[in-house]
Amino acid sequence: MMSSSSNRATLELSNGVKMPAVGLGTWQATSGDMTTAMHEALSLGYRHFDTAILYENERPIGGVLNYWMEQGRIRRDELFVTTKLPPTGMYPGKVEPYLRKSLENLMLDYVDMYLVHCPNGIKRDEENTAVEDTQVDHVAIWKEMEALVDCGLTKAIGISNFSLEQIASLVKNCRIRPMNLQTELHVYFQQKELVEFCHGHGITVVACSPLGSPGLTAFYSGYGVVKNVPNLLELPLLTEMAKRYDRTAAQIMLRHTVQKGVGVIPKSTSPKRMKENLEVLDFELTTEDMEKLSALDMGTSGQITKWESWTWVENDPSGTPSHHAPQEKKRTSTNKSEETSSTSS
Ligand SMILES: NC(=O)c1ccc[n+]([C@@H]2O[C@H](COP(=O)([O-])OP(=O)(O)OC[C@H]3O[C@@H](n4cnc5c(N)ncnc54)[C@H](OP(=O)(O)O)[C@@H]3O)[C@@H](O)[C@H]2O)c1
Repeated sequence: MMSSSSNRATLELSNGVKMPAVGLGTWQATSGDMTTAMHEALSLGYRHFDTAILYENERPIGGVLNYWMEQGRIRRDELFVTTKLPPTGMYPGKVEPYLRKSLENLMLDYVDMYLVHCPNGIKRDEENTAVEDTQVDHVAIWKEMEALVDCGLTKAIGISNFSLEQIASLVKNCRIRPMNLQTELHVYFQQKELVEFCHGHGITVVACSPLGSPGLTAFYSGYGVVKNVPNLLELPLLTEMAKRYDRTAAQIMLRHTVQKGVGVIPKSTSPKRMKENLEVLDFELTTEDMEKLSALDMGTSGQITKWESWTWVENDPSGTPSHHAPQEKKRTSTNKSEETSSTSS
């Protein structure tokens, strides 16, 4: 499924489209940062961009992509743009309107891939409070996802944060198989069984938070929440290998994932780190080093950015929920459930 002969390796989706194995993640990148970062990323050679309506940055991303296309510096068919159906869209009749809204934000006629962002929905109860809905009818939603391919609004469809059981059930009950799973994956949380299942069913896998999301501690503190996530980039094995290969710890970690045939979408708005993250296709880890890195897997206890409903953000009385830009919207108080909850994007 993976073609990696050059530093432009791709993963082939079941619709025949080739997706660059390294893309740019954009969660937590605010509008201003995003515009500058997009120009830089395109100049560096990024062609695969991952966003979501929840990230509130589709507009700056679309603005820069359209500017480059208008200038004749890039063609639409050279780009691979992914966005996602939010939990509030997990209801019949809401799927196409949400994609149309994203397309309007991105100023595009179609996206290359539309993903169901998470398996659960968010709905409002009698008191108009946002609550998590774990009873979403995945088959009904998937039929509407398939219709988006039929009418050309997206080339590919997939899922994100779904479990093996949820994917297996969808595979049995679909007309168009999911073409991609986006899921948290890094040395501490390698999801070997899930990846094997997907690859065995022609579903490509893209690792989100492929560096272990080291910016999460700061992200939480922007909401006034104290939560320390482990910094995987400082693991002794990674720093030792980085020295030995004359690479950085981030490059070793990304290479380990890509070498297993899984795509990566590291987020960075720093030109230096964006460049570094793209340069992981021109070297190879030995089998022995691959095994050493694979042995760091901690199973589910290694998960860092676990999906949560984000109803606490939806319920924020102080204004429009700003899911991904804490520096623009600081919460003034915390409560127990926030402190104990995990996150995702
Ligand atoms: N589907 C989902 O539910 C879901 C969940 C999580 C993430 N995602 C997607 O996956 C993308 C990546 O995940 P993520 O943003 O959680 O985390 P990540 O890519 O693992 O880590 C990003 C963090 O690492 C820093 N960084 C980037 N490159 C680095 C390098 N070479 N050396 C040192 N630090 C580096 C970034 O800071 P700087 O910007 O300052 O470089 C940022 O703080 C997201 O942006 C989003 O597009 C999707």
